[in-house]
Amino acid sequence: MITTETLDVTTIEPRLKHPTIFQHFDALKPGESFVIHNDHDPKPLYYQLLGERGAIFKWEYMEQGPTSWLVKITLNSSGATDDAETVGAIAAKDYRKAEVFKKLGIDFCCGGEKSLKEASVEAGISEEKLKEELEQANTVTTSASQDYNNWKIDFLADFISNTHHQYIRESSTVITGLASKVAQHHGAQHPELWSVNKKVEALMGDLLDHISKEDQVLFPAIKDLVNGKKEQDSSVETIIKAMHEDHDHTGEDLRELRTLTDDYKLPPEACNSYTYLFEKLKEFENDTFKHIHLENNILFPKAIHLETQS
Ligand SMILES: [Fe+2]
Ligand SMILES: [Fe+2]
Repeated sequence: MITTETLDVTTIEPRLKHPTIFQHFDALKPGESFVIHNDHDPKPLYYQLLGERGAIFKWEYMEQGPTSWLVKITLNSSGATDDAETVGAIAAKDYRKAEVFKKLGIDFCCGGEKSLKEASVEAGISEEKLKEELEQANTVTTSASQDYNNWKIDFLADFISNTHHQYIRESSTVITGLASKVAQHHGAQHPELWSVNKKVEALMGDLLDHISKEDQVLFPAIKDLVNGKKEQDSSVETIIKAMHEDHDHTGEDLRELRTLTDDYKLPPEACNSYTYLFEKLKEFENDTFKHIHLENNILFPKAIHLETQS
């Protein structure tokens, strides 16, 4: 009988935690698993394994807090990338495939840690059909400017800051103003617009705080790592863990906005501002998904990998 060993990470000395887990991982034969037990969400380890070993394993939560986390880690049966490759990893390698996920309404950024099988259920299509669509994406011509996975990470951090962060700063004022105006004009007939207004205010406030932390703390720390400087008092991995929590929260807010607006469905009497608000919110969602994808699936795992090497 094959038994799955449980590694209690809470009893391991901090500096030995990751090396010990990697030793266990490297000892796995194809198809074998081990379980890690921890007293907090070991999500950073997921990204570290992804960065250092590639998408050759399956990550399954068996228990998720509040005081105990159990995660089963299984080496793919072929020992190589196969169906267990996550949506986030597929999108990171090839943005043309991210476009397929986007088209099918599959969350590849905040909820990227899922298999193709799970994603096909989310999209309401068969796994075969999803694979077919992904295959077709291979025929789409791509440009070097979309090859984010091969960019240097300090350049990627600058790119995110100068495009996506700047976009949030510019559009947040416009969208917040519109949401307030539309709620005041149409809130009587469509009371959900008051909730949309409140949600938009909270989302924009949280995101502005979030990008400030990235621009002022995380991205400079990543650049220091690239330049061979390591701050003694800050761990990039710890900051990234907090950023992941923010991203999950943003994903939830965007999903709630879709629910509140019935997927941004406009009533027949919608005026220009009402229409413009929904168009801007859809554009904002689109930009935010790409932004979080670049961080969660490419920048963060590579930064953690670099930190553990230095
Ligand atoms: Fe960001
Ligand atoms: Fe972020």
